[in-house]
This record gives sequence, structure tokens and C-alpha cells, in this order.
Amino acid sequence: MDARHSTRQICLEVDAAITDESRSSSVKGAPWRRYLWGTPVLLLLVVSFLFPGEQTGENTVIAANPIVRQDTHPLNKDWLEVHWVIRKKCNGCHRPNTDQHDFSTYESLMGLTPHSDTPVVIPGNPEASPLWQYVNWNHNFDPNSDAPESPYMPPDKKEDYLTASQLDTLYRWIKNGALDYVLPDHCNTRPLLETDFVSAKECAQCHPRQYDEWSRSMHAYAQHSPVFEAFTLTMIERTGGTIGTFCTRCHTPIGVSIGENASMRNVHRSRISMEGVTCVVCHRLEKPFYKASGRLPVTPGLVNDGCTYGPFSDPVNPDGSVHDAASSNQLTKSSFCGSCHDVTSPQGVRLEEAFSEWQNSPAAKEGTSCQDCHMGPIPGVPVKSWERPFGKIAVVPGVDPSLLPDRPLSSHTFSGPDYSLLPDTEFPEKLDWMYEKDYRDTKNLTPHQKETLTLLRIKNRQQLAKARNERYTLLKNAAKISVDHPYRASPRDKMKIHVDVTSTTAGHNFPTGFTAERQVWVEVRLVDPYGKQVFASGDFDDNRDLRDEHSHAVEAGLLARDKHLLNFQSKFTVLTTQGTERSVIIPVNRDIRPINVIRPVDEPAQSFGRPSVFRIAKGSLPPLQTVGQSYPVKLPDQAGQYRLLVRLNYRNLPPALFDKIGISHLKHLIETVVIDEYQCVILVE
Ligand code: HEC
Ligand code: HEC
Ligand code: HEC
Ligand code: HEC
Ligand code: HEC
Ligand code: HEC
Repeated sequence: MDARHSTRQICLEVDAAITDESRSSSVKGAPWRRYLWGTPVLLLLVVSFLFPGEQTGENTVIAANPIVRQDTHPLNKDWLEVHWVIRKKCNGCHRPNTDQHDFSTYESLMGLTPHSDTPVVIPGNPEASPLWQYVNWNHNFDPNSDAPESPYMPPDKKEDYLTASQLDTLYRWIKNGALDYVLPDHCNTRPLLETDFVSAKECAQCHPRQYDEWSRSMHAYAQHSPVFEAFTLTMIERTGGTIGTFCTRCHTPIGVSIGENASMRNVHRSRISMEGVTCVVCHRLEKPFYKASGRLPVTPGLVNDGCTYGPFSDPVNPDGSVHDAASSNQLTKSSFCGSCHDVTSPQGVRLEEAFSEWQNSPAAKEGTSCQDCHMGPIPGVPVKSWERPFGKIAVVPGVDPSLLPDRPLSSHTFSGPDYSLLPDTEFPEKLDWMYEKDYRDTKNLTPHQKETLTLLRIKNRQQLAKARNERYTLLKNAAKISVDHPYRASPRDKMKIHVDVTSTTAGHNFPTGFTAERQVWVEVRLVDPYGKQVFASGDFDDNRDLRDEHSHAVEAGLLARDKHLLNFQSKFTVLTTQGTERSVIIPVNRDIRPINVIRPVDEPAQSFGRPSVFRIAKGSLPPLQTVGQSYPVKLPDQAGQYRLLVRLNYRNLPPALFDKIGISHLKHLIETVVIDEYQCVILVE
């Protein structure tokens, strides 16, 4: 007997003991049972006193279907998980006001539909509940199982079949009475939960194209990024935690809204938090907040609660079953992007200025917005929304597509120079069962898991390839070089090679945003007729860092600094104890103050003519401007054909940063993109 059983259940056990005993005369088990067996009449009296009216001859029926009351079990957390799974996998079809049973809320799931007089959930009895019957399947390929080979629901989509633990939870939830999640009375305010926000997967059921594009974008990756995670943890450590949720507020606005703390590792974060800048972050903002440094008040609620804001003033609700929508006067403006794409540190240092740069750009003067360049068909090329290809913006299951108008389409790929550093089984998509089983050991996988894993790999690789091409297109649209040099020279000549870098974007500087890490630099190499390098600038040290003040080898005096390096990276610059300035990789003090705290600036910047803590020495190339550099080359005493190679390179993150934040093991994934290249032969005679 289990000590946790309630009084009622003990009585039922007793009933069962009676029925058992009536079948067999040998009484085993606890001595008290034997004692009870001696007094069946008394027991029946006790039972009928406790449950008047229920005492028929068939006591076993009650045992099979116990009634569990809400007041004795005020909350069942399983409902949250069940609701989350149903919403992501079923709600596209099982939505309100359609022929299908509406699963969108607890009440509608438990209720009846006009078309069916049987409920889909029979509390306490999973086997008899259509909700369980329709999704149950032989998920572990057990040869003795009665369960069907594949579930009846969800139809078609193999990757959405319920996993072992999702089936367990659903079964347990129904078995325990299919209760709602209600907090006890004394909790009068419920904190916001993961399930209070709509997952991108729910939107995907009617907006699959937007979902596909978004899922491979850096908005979806913002919180996944191992660089972001390591950088944030480094900042938290160095500031003794006083930086709070500053870093996560833009990278996972929903995570911050549901109270996840700043130092929480990604593996412990909720699934909605890992969606980063997800659909509702941009489409569920009721009021404009402009530059709030990412503190966005996203409205909670289910898909059909409240309003979804988009670019169109005449949204269609074809069968009355989809969400309300309205046009938003902020969403299509640059200032909307600016609420996250201008980052000011807690001490007032301007860390990122994409929006501020745009405000003074030629693009802004012409009325070209961020959306024009970043949401059009070609990344980085301005195309006004009305000049874009037309099509449907939604595909609603069960609704004739011709009921929806054709509209100008916008892209949600938001291509930028960043890309995923995660394995191709983790991003853009990861399947639910992969959180339950070590998928790297294929020996342990069921045939269904093997099949869906292969399909996932193929789809993820296609998605990553698309993202890569879009990224290269964007970067190629950013700048170009022109090179000037003599075609003929004599041995021992002092020759001049001149390289001009011209920005071809009117939108903002190049690079913009995360400029303290972005590297845009010119690589110049001259090679003599025998293949020996005579001149090099913009080449790497053995850590693949540029030979500047951040290179380990240069710092240690093992390698000469690259005197002629033309690099458009901005650098964090801090005050030293002597009052001079020094360029650093991470601008938070480590040793000087006994406790590292981020606190409001306590002395006026005017006295120093600069912020007292640190600043960014800006090095980026302004829009449509040209910046040049001359490289003096002393030719050796060697005649012949010399080969000149000039490149404009781009790299999103430098290896020295990875070393500083403890992710050196990812350095091999850093990629250099050649944006423009020039080659020529110089005849030396
Ligand atoms: C692509 C659309 C679609 C999706 C996705 C879908 N269903 Fe269905 N479902 C239907 C249709 C259509 C019916 C009614 C016809 C039928 O029973 O085959 C139905 C019927 C049902 C019924 C029987 C309803 C009743 O009133 O008796 C249950 C239970 C059910 N689905 C559960 C689910 C669950 C659980 C999921 C998600 C895991 C799901 N469905 C996903 C289309 C869908
Ligand atoms: C059941 C299907 C369905 C689901 C689920 C759904 N949508 Fe929609 N959505 C539609 C339809 C239909 C339209 C209107 C299409 C039209 O007017 O051309 C629409 C329109 C929109 C618009 C344009 C509104 C405007 O006025 O400009 C946006 C933005 C949008 N949806 C975002 C979302 C987001 C975000 C989610 C998830 C939170 C979501 N949708 C979930 C069907 C759906
Ligand atoms: C970073 C902000 C942002 C995120 C995240 C985002 N959107 Fe949008 N979305 C926009 C903007 C801005 C527009 C208007 C584009 C324009 O003006 O060209 C738009 C337009 C739309 C439209 C109507 C135009 C079209 O081509 O479809 C739909 C529908 C839509 N979004 C759905 C979604 C869905 C679904 C998701 C999540 C998978 C999502 N959006 C994520 C900013 C966002
Ligand atoms: C809620 C904050 C938020 C809003 C609003 C937002 N972004 Fe972003 N955006 C981010 C974050 C955070 C990243 C960085 C993700 C990463 O690289 O890890 C990002 C990345 C990007 C990138 C890719 C940069 C790269 O390095 O690859 C582009 C392009 C971009 N955003 C454009 C836009 C545009 C255009 C808008 C307005 C329609 C917008 N964003 C609105 C937070 C936001
Ligand atoms: C005229 C077109 C144009 C406009 C307008 C424009 N961009 Fe860009 N954007 C580009 C191009 C081209 C690049 C690639 C070069 C680069 O990285 O600067 C880019 C890159 C970016 C990046 C990645 C920068 C990096 O190197 O990390 C972000 C973030 C971004 N844009 C955000 C914005 C925001 C926010 C706005 C509006 C305030 C905006 N852009 C307006 C064309 C444009
Ligand atoms: C106000 C919004 C905002 C805040 C606050 C913010 N970021 Fe970001 N972060 C962005 C945007 C926008 C980008 C994309 C910029 C670009 O591509 O140029 C970005 C890009 C990044 C990237 C590069 C992308 C990647 O995943 O590798 C890292 C790393 C990063 N941020 C770390 C941080 C850290 C650490 C903090 C806290 C000190 C922080 N961010 C605070 C908006 C924000």
C-alpha cells in the first residue's frame, strides 16, 4: 500500500480486496487485510456511509474511473505541456469557428463541437479518449504493441508525430483527470508563462513561407548563438552580475518577459525563449516605443486573442477563424528596427548605431527604409514594397486560397553577416524527439527517428545553403575596391600600390551594428617570380588574427605589427590608470576596482571630453564614401613577373574574441568572405 494514497483510494483498494477475495479463498498479503476479510459486512457499511448512492454491486467500475476533483488538485502542470504540444502541432486545423474540433483553449478542447456529441477527452480514461486514440502510435516499434503503426493525427507530417514523452504526458494528464492549470486561490496574480506567448511554430501553420525564411534568419538564432551566450556570461561575470538582463532583452525579449534570469544557460531556457526575436516580438506590439533599447512590451495571448499587426490595412479573415489583424504605423518604419538596432550600454556608451547611422544616411534622405533594403527580394538592394513580387501571405488549412488577395511579399530572411555556428542538426530546426534521446548514437534510434533525422539533415542543409547565398549577396552589395599601381618596374624600385575601398550602400556605414567585432579589411600580397612573398598586409598570425594590437603574437612581441593595415573595424577603447587610452577586446575592467559593477556614470564626461569608462573608436566606412590606403613596396633585386593580389575581406568575428570569452573550440568555424578581388602581373625588368 502506498502511503500517499488518499482516503478514498484506500477504500477502493479495500473494495478490490473484497472482490479479489470473493474469487479466491487463500488470503495473502498484509495481516490487516486478512483482518478486513473477516468483517466484510462492516466494511460495506463504512463504504456506503462514505459514498451514499454510489454503492451498487459493481464497485470495480468506480475503481476504473475515479473522479478527481479540482479542489483537491488545484493545479496540474501537465496541461501546460499538453497545450503547448497541441498548439504547435494541431491548431492550424483545429482552430475556432471551423468544422474541426477547436483545440485552442482548455474550455474548447474539453467541450463539444456542433458536429460531434462525444467529447475528445474523457477525464480519467485515456484509452476511451479520441484525443489519445488519434495520436497514439507504436512509437518504440514494440512488436507486442497493439498501437497502430502510425498515428491518425497529425496527418501527413511525420516529424510532428508525438514523441515518447509527449505521449506519456498526454496519457498522464488525461488519466489524472484532464485538469486545467489553475493556481491556488491565495495566488492572485499568475506570472507570465511560456504558454502565454505564441510560438513561431503556431504561426507557421498558416504562414509557412515566412516561417521558413525567419527560421534560418539571425533573428531566430539570436539567443541560440554560442558566441552570444559566452559573451553574455563573460559580461555577467566581469560585472558581478550587475549588468542584469541587459544583454538578453533584445536577443530573447520573450525570455526576459517570462522572468528568465540573465545567467541562465541556453539548455535551461524555455522553448519560446530560444525562438529569440520571434514573430510575436514584431507583430504583437500594440504601441510604438521607439528607441527603448529593446525593452519591448510584447502583448501576451493566444493566436486568436487580441490583434496581430502587419503592413496591410485591409486584412482578410476568410472564414472568421483566423486572428484579427490591423495595419501598424510603426512596423514598416525604420525606427521600429531602431528599437533594437541602436544599442546603448548601461553607462551610456553607444555600442551599436545602425539606426543612428541610417538617420543621417543618403538612404534616409531619399526615404529608403531598413525594410526596403532588408525585406525585399535581394538582400541589401532597396525595393519598395509595392515593387515586390505578389502572392498570398497566408495558406490556411481548409480554406480556398482564392479567398485571399494577392499582396506584395516581404522577405523575413533578414540576411546579415552572421551565420549559425551550431551543428546542422540543431539549427534552423531541431525535432522534438531529439531533446529526449541522444541522436548522435544512431544505433539507439527507431526507424522513424532515423528517417526523420535524415529528412531534417537534408532540409537544414538546404536552408543553410540558402542563408549562405543570401549572406554573400548582401556582402557583395556592400563595397568594392579599385587598385592603382605601375604595371612595369625595375628591381630595387620603391613602388606604390594604392587601394581605394568604396561603399556601395546608402543605408549606413560598412560595417554597421556590431562594429567592434566586424572586420572589413584589405589584403595585399606581392609574390616574386619564385613564389616568395615580398610584401603582405592584411595577412594573419598563426591564430588567424590580423597583425594588430589584439593579436596574441604581436602583443607578445613575436610578430611585427601590420603598419599598413586598412581595417574598418571599430575598437573598444578604455582609459588606463595613467589617463591615456588603450584598445581592448572586452571593455570591462577586471583588476582595478575591487568589485566590478556596472553603475551609472558618476563623473561628467565633459571634464574629460569623452566617457569616463570606455568608448568605441569608430573605424567604419560611411555610406557611399571612399577611403584609400597606399602601400609602399621596396622591390628586391630580382627581375621577372611579380604577382599582385588585392582582396577586400569580411569576417564577422575575430578569433581573439573567441579566446577571450572561452569558446576557442569554435574558432575553426570562422569564415572569411572575399567581397572583391583584384589580381595582376607586374613586370620587373
Ligand atoms: C492538416 C489538418 C489537421 C491537423 C494538423 C490535425 N488534425 Fe485532427 N482532424 C483533422 C480533420 C480534417 C479531422 C476530422 C476528420 C477525421 O476525423 O478524419 C480531424 C479530427 C480529429 C479528431 C477527432 C475529432 C472529433 O471531434 O471526434 C481528433 C481527436 C484530432 N483530430 C486530433 C488531432 C490532434 C491531437 C492533432 C495534433 C497532434 C491534430 N488532430 C492535427 C485535421 C487535422
Ligand atoms: C489559422 C491561420 C493563421 C494563423 C495560425 C496565423 N495567421 Fe496570420 N494571417 C492569416 C490570414 C488568413 C491573414 C490575412 C491574409 C490577407 O489578408 O491577405 C493573416 C495575416 C497576417 C498578417 C498581416 C496582417 C496585416 O494587416 O498586415 C500578419 C503580420 C500575420 N498574419 C502574422 C501572424 C503571426 C505573427 C501569427 C502567429 C502569432 C499568425 N499570423 C498566425 C492566417 C493565420
Ligand atoms: C524583426 C521583426 C519581424 C519578425 C521577427 C517577423 N516579422 Fe513579419 N513582418 C515584419 C515587417 C517589418 C513586415 C512588413 C514588411 C514590409 O514592410 O515590407 C512584416 C510582414 C509580415 C507579413 C505580411 C507580408 C508578407 O510578405 O507576408 C506576414 C504575414 C508576417 N510578417 C508574418 C510573420 C511571421 C509568421 C513571423 C514569424 C515566423 C514573422 N512575421 C516574423 C517584421 C517581422
Ligand atoms: C527585438 C529586437 C529586434 C528588432 C525589433 C529587430 N531586430 Fe534585427 N536583430 C536583432 C538581434 C538581437 C540580432 C542579432 C542576432 C544575431 O546575430 O545573433 C538581429 C539581427 C539582424 C540582422 C542580421 C545581422 C547579422 O549580423 O547577420 C539584420 C539584417 C536585421 N536584424 C535587420 C532588422 C530589421 C530590418 C528590423 C526591422 C524590420 C529588425 N532587424 C528588427 C534584434 C532585433
Ligand atoms: C540602402 C540599403 C540599406 C538600408 C536602407 C539599410 N541597410 Fe542595413 N545593410 C545594407 C547592406 C548592403 C548591408 C551589408 C553591409 C554591411 O554589413 O554594412 C547591410 C547590413 C546590415 C546589418 C549587418 C551589419 C553588420 O556588419 O553587422 C544590419 C544589422 C543592418 N544592415 C541593419 C539595418 C537597419 C536597422 C537599417 C535601418 C535603420 C538598415 N540596415 C538600413 C543595406 C541597407
Ligand atoms: C538594444 C538591443 C541589444 C542589446 C541590449 C544587446 N544586443 Fe547584441 N545584438 C543586437 C543586434 C541588433 C545585433 C546585430 C548587430 C549586427 O549584426 O550588426 C546584435 C549582435 C550581437 C552579437 C553578434 C551576433 C552573434 O550572435 O554572434 C553578439 C555576440 C552580441 N550581440 C552580444 C551582446 C551582448 C554580450 C550584449 C550585452 C552586453 C548585447 N549583445 C546586448 C542587439 C542588442
